Amino acid sequence: MQENSAPDGFRWYSEGRVRFLAPIFPATEAGEPIAPTKIPVFYNPFSKPSRDMTVLLVAAFFNKRITAAEPLAGSGVRGIRLLKETENVEEAYLNDLNPSAYNVIKLNAEANGVADKVVASNQEASLFLARHSEARYRFEYVDVDPVGAPVRFLENSIRACGHLGVVGASATDLAALTGVKPRPCIRKYDAIPMHVAFSKEIAIRIMMGFVARAAARLNAGIEPLLSYYHRHFIRVFAQVKRGRSGALQSIQEIGWLTYCGSCMRIETTPLTELPDRLCRTCGSGNMVAGPLWVGRLSDNSLAGRMLERVGEDYDEARRALSRIVSEDTSLVGYYPIPLLSRWARRSPPPPKAVIEELRNLGYRASQTHIDPNAVKTDAPPEDIKRVLSTLP
Ligand SMILES: C[S@@+](CC[C@H](N)C(=O)[O-])C[C@H]1O[C@@H](n2cnc3c(N)ncnc32)[C@H](O)[C@@H]1O
Repeated sequence: MQENSAPDGFRWYSEGRVRFLAPIFPATEAGEPIAPTKIPVFYNPFSKPSRDMTVLLVAAFFNKRITAAEPLAGSGVRGIRLLKETENVEEAYLNDLNPSAYNVIKLNAEANGVADKVVASNQEASLFLARHSEARYRFEYVDVDPVGAPVRFLENSIRACGHLGVVGASATDLAALTGVKPRPCIRKYDAIPMHVAFSKEIAIRIMMGFVARAAARLNAGIEPLLSYYHRHFIRVFAQVKRGRSGALQSIQEIGWLTYCGSCMRIETTPLTELPDRLCRTCGSGNMVAGPLWVGRLSDNSLAGRMLERVGEDYDEARRALSRIVSEDTSLVGYYPIPLLSRWARRSPPPPKAVIEELRNLGYRASQTHIDPNAVKTDAPPEDIKRVLSTLP
């Protein structure tokens, strides 16, 4: 194909250091985006922050030459960006079930001068991954980026990921994961969601918990590297540690989350115990979510190294990372300041003042990238309330 010419319905886009062919992004006459699933090859420009994060994580995490795989590659832009924008990816296996996507991946690899580093294929993703489950064919990085839930691809992604490799996965079925529609979440993720003020974090924890349980079935453990929420998706990255001890260790981080809607107490209970039905503070009925990941969700120092590499047009990734760097993700849940203020019958104080005061009392506290106007803390509700009533 000639430079600049594009088939009907397609155009050339630029993202990061890659120039690539993809369908014209569908929009209504008013300029509103229409679901990108309706186009001949999937491409969603609004997912650029997800691709930016993938590039940053792979560049910052691996200190050796690696092979990456994208079983659901669409136009191939993510994998080609990994080849062009990191120094450590030397080969990318880009697969898509859609034959048009397969052709576009090959054209895009050619157009970016990386055809010799791209292995394109046109297979069902689970089959593609299963074919790479033997140790010598595994990848160091596997990226699972479906429309909706990644669950049906996760077990095979772990099979296809080498020891100390990384699986990155996103989910766009946020209505299920945040408990707006609980039944699909129970069906797909084997977990009960909860529709409360911090549901988005619960969504991330359900997804990380699902990855850990899928890994444990295969005798592998996981180490969460980075987890975040962004508008229409959540994304988690986890290192895979093969072996029984790793599996047992990460299963210890799976548990239940209880939340009291009356006094706002958040608690976690190990998977092997039954969660309290009644709140320990006020005796009201608890809501229960899980099983989910109750441990740390992100590695702050990795987020810092990613932040150092942020490119000029990475505004959204920069914003998220600059918050994740100081977020204490081992604290479960968060309290939006407007909710706390209504509860304490006062005007909303700045979150930083609440955090400082909680720390003065000896508690852990931080902000969350999900909601900059919220606080995470291990303080019990009575002390959070005390802080709110003493702050000017
Ligand atoms: C969200 S898109 C991927 C977008 C791409 N990762 C990016 O960053 O632009 C999901 C892709 O998965 C492909 N797909 C859906 N089901 C599949 C399956 N079972 N096996 C392989 N590919 C599949 C679709 O054709 C679509 O291109």
